[in-house]
Amino acid sequence: MRIHVTPVRRLRGEVTVPGDKSISHRAALFGALAAGRTEISGFLEGEDCLATLKAVRALGVEVIRKGAGHYLLDGGGLAALVEPDDVIDCGNSGTTARLLIGVLAAQPFWSVLTGDASLRRRPMDRVSAPLRQMGATVVGRQGGSRLPLAVTGTRPLRALRFVSPVASAQVKTAVLLAGLWADGPVTVEEPAQSRDHTERMLGAFGAHLSIAGRTVTLHPGGQLRGQAVSVPGDVSSAAFFLAAAAAGPDAAVTVKGVGVNPTRTGLLDVLAQMGARISRQESGLGLGATAAEPAADLRVTSSALRGTVVRGPLIPRLIDEIPALAVTACVAEGVTEIRDAAELRVKESDRIHAIAAELGRMGARVSERADGLQIHGGTRLRGATVSSGGDHRMAMALVVAGLLADGETVVEDTDCIATSFPGFLDTLNALAGAPCARVSA
Ligand code: S3P
Repeated sequence: MRIHVTPVRRLRGEVTVPGDKSISHRAALFGALAAGRTEISGFLEGEDCLATLKAVRALGVEVIRKGAGHYLLDGGGLAALVEPDDVIDCGNSGTTARLLIGVLAAQPFWSVLTGDASLRRRPMDRVSAPLRQMGATVVGRQGGSRLPLAVTGTRPLRALRFVSPVASAQVKTAVLLAGLWADGPVTVEEPAQSRDHTERMLGAFGAHLSIAGRTVTLHPGGQLRGQAVSVPGDVSSAAFFLAAAAAGPDAAVTVKGVGVNPTRTGLLDVLAQMGARISRQESGLGLGATAAEPAADLRVTSSALRGTVVRGPLIPRLIDEIPALAVTACVAEGVTEIRDAAELRVKESDRIHAIAAELGRMGARVSERADGLQIHGGTRLRGATVSSGGDHRMAMALVVAGLLADGETVVEDTDCIATSFPGFLDTLNALAGAPCARVSA
């Protein structure tokens, strides 16, 4: 499917976005490990999170869909999972694969995980290495570093103090989850703080955690209990509209009920630093296990933007928003430097290369760095044919670029948007007040 985008003259209104992807994955997985009922509302019914639900069903957990985004899971506790009778397909979802490997490392059975072509290229040794140190057997392609991977779990796993070379919430979560079945404390130390949904939610489900700065320890012996989870809107999906509104003409956009956990809101800080007029009104807390996940209504209006420097501990706080941020940087006056972001090369695509190449086709002056991008802003983008390379966040960022460009932009390979944001185009067209983005085969 390709999307034809015409520039917008205005972008106005109030919208909601689907549930947070990271919180939805965790709600499904923690609910599957908990004893008793977990009731999730606002679950993201995108392909990635549906892959997690399918996986927990394959592991023997009953999952009932009550309505849109509303699920009941009846978990049997930490000893109840059963050997899946087929390969588990994680699709495009790195979170599904990495979090599951952590759980499977402690299950007394054999399981095999695979994924689509993009996921099969992504590094898995960052989770399999510490899990092997804990006693699990993880084997697969390229020395057990690429899917398909086979996992034979063992119980108990050995206690571990793991100093992670990357600031990755997926790695942190996989190791902490394995710690639920360890014979002593399991500690993960990160080089920079990554998103902390696991710490907040696992604690609410009943796990014993202690946190000191960038170090988290899971103490074994806790039992998880089913919870009510209300998932806030995904700030990573809201990002596309916030970026479009900040950079576009005649824009005033409010995105309601967005998760504003501070480990996820780096984009808001950077847009403000670039001169965007952005305000937030707290809209309460999620229920149950997301009680500690704040939500807010976010409002952005057209602003004169200037370039900025984005690096260091800010990077994990906006890692998924960099494609959208790069588009605003093209419009901003001056230079934007994005550094310390080499992780972008191992996302759903090599996003450093993809951003430079595709925005380059639209006349942007973007150069690749090994660990980031340099963007010379202030050039008018021009419509062109560009491709997402099968990466959902690239697809949506390129649609936003098309809104700000002269002439028509065609974004190819856009089915992937359904992995995280079904309904993206309808929401965008509603804000534009007229169809600015339409689909062709
Ligand atoms: C996620 C963590 C991040 C992020 C991904 C979701 C999570 O990945 O990019 O979209 O839910 O834990 P890394 O852990 O690889 O940084």
